[in-house]
Amino acid sequence: MVLDVTLVIIAYLLGSIPSGLIVGKVGYGIDIREHGSGNLGGTNTFRTLGKKAGLIVTLADILKGTLAAALPFLFSSDLHYLLVGMIAVVGHMYPIFAGFKGGKAVATSGGVLLFYNPILFLTAVLSFFIFLYFTKMVSLSSMLTAIYCVLFSIFYSILMGVDYPLIIIVGILAIFVVYRHRTNIVRIRNKTEPKIKWL
Ligand code: G3P
Repeated sequence: MVLDVTLVIIAYLLGSIPSGLIVGKVGYGIDIREHGSGNLGGTNTFRTLGKKAGLIVTLADILKGTLAAALPFLFSSDLHYLLVGMIAVVGHMYPIFAGFKGGKAVATSGGVLLFYNPILFLTAVLSFFIFLYFTKMVSLSSMLTAIYCVLFSIFYSILMGVDYPLIIIVGILAIFVVYRHRTNIVRIRNKTEPKIKWL
């Protein structure tokens, strides 16, 4: 019990590490929350600070989810990997180290899936870039990829045996992703959402 509670707290603190804020402030002396979309995630770091910084933040955010999901395995706990990973995603969205204003759940959720089901992660990355190629919008592609992950989880369960935690937690992560993109949804509807030019 003590171990499980400790792991949940560690997962939340891990997810709370604001990599976008750290890279922006330490590497470039700026607060990325004051630039672009104001989001702490990889996309806004790409937009504001360029490819190198954006890639570092995206990979760090993925790593947070992967490490959190691995905690029960590393410390021999019975807690479900996906549950602990989801706690890190909550930390990423509402980080104690950054005034509870964090990212949009995409990369850290991806990191959780990478640990639990690498096939889901890899096909989700592929789907994301296919959606991005056609829509040119990272936000819309992120939400469509979240829906893809839910569908994958259902079909994977049908083929490989029912995995309720996978379906339920991927469903919750997808809700997180869509909920955190509320402002993007308004911009998409108003046709003011930024589009990428490099794909
Ligand atoms: O992962 C976040 C992305 O989907 C949207 O970010 O900065 O364009 O709001 P942003």
